[in-house]
Amino acid sequence: MTTAPRASTTDRGRDPDDLLPSGVVSTRGDVPPLGRAARNRTSGIGIMATRRPYVGGNWKMHGELAAAVELTENLVAGIGDTVLKIDISIFPPFPYLQAVGHALGHTAISLGGQDCAAHLEGAHTGQTSPAMIADLGGKVALVGHSERRHELGESDAVVAAKARAALAADLQPVVCVGETLAQREAGNALQVVEKQVRAALEGLSATQVGRVVVAYEPVWAIGTGMTATPDDAQSAHAMIRALLGELYDAQLAGSVRIIYGGSVKAANAAELFAAPDVDGGLIGGASLKVEEFSSICQFASSS
Ligand code: PGA
Repeated sequence: MTTAPRASTTDRGRDPDDLLPSGVVSTRGDVPPLGRAARNRTSGIGIMATRRPYVGGNWKMHGELAAAVELTENLVAGIGDTVLKIDISIFPPFPYLQAVGHALGHTAISLGGQDCAAHLEGAHTGQTSPAMIADLGGKVALVGHSERRHELGESDAVVAAKARAALAADLQPVVCVGETLAQREAGNALQVVEKQVRAALEGLSATQVGRVVVAYEPVWAIGTGMTATPDDAQSAHAMIRALLGELYDAQLAGSVRIIYGGSVKAANAAELFAAPDVDGGLIGGASLKVEEFSSICQFASSS
């Protein structure tokens, strides 16, 4: 069994390859962030930085093989050149990863796993190694999605281990955080999110965090049709960015993409993406509709 090792805070600044389990050889060269170009934005906390918008389509447990391939082909056509201006990933169900990767062909839309194991290999029945996702051409993995935290009881520690394993396998982790309705109503939303972010990044070096995307997804907004207001999203995103500044430095804080998820659709994407610290979105239901998802990507590219 190989387990991604836990790094202590003293590991910050070390090369990420130093954190690989013994016997695992990194294929990481100088891996660029997913972005190629970016926009300048002054964040709500006064950090001027360049960030390329990011939009992810989380298909969850929907569809069947033929439909997944058809959706991919239609998305490639519908998104067109927008993928040259922003980073776009799709996260199909695991059994369809390879077929969807094939259907993506040479487009710059990247392939991602909806989750990954906290281990690179071994006796972990039913789990999917981040190395296997990478082997199929995957570049990204969601970790800590609230449907896993709440349906499967994934703890902050498990989410952190998955983020480390994803990085060790050369995948870009999209770390999902967000408060429940009860936590928001109790006035604890920001504290809950801060704790989740601190835990997920525990022990990661600045280089590693530079590869992370943080997705703020209030649980009460996911799949409910209820969306956070742009102001609510902005205050959570600004808090996360300020926290990154405190844990690392202002330059890193300004460069990490923080995206919003929770009932984003074409009708509300533009106003959400206009918030200074909202760098794109993680899209569930609307990512299964070609026109909706393509429009959301376009709004991100012009935000
Ligand atoms: P939703 O899902 O857009 O359907 O609310 C978002 C998500 O779970 O990432």
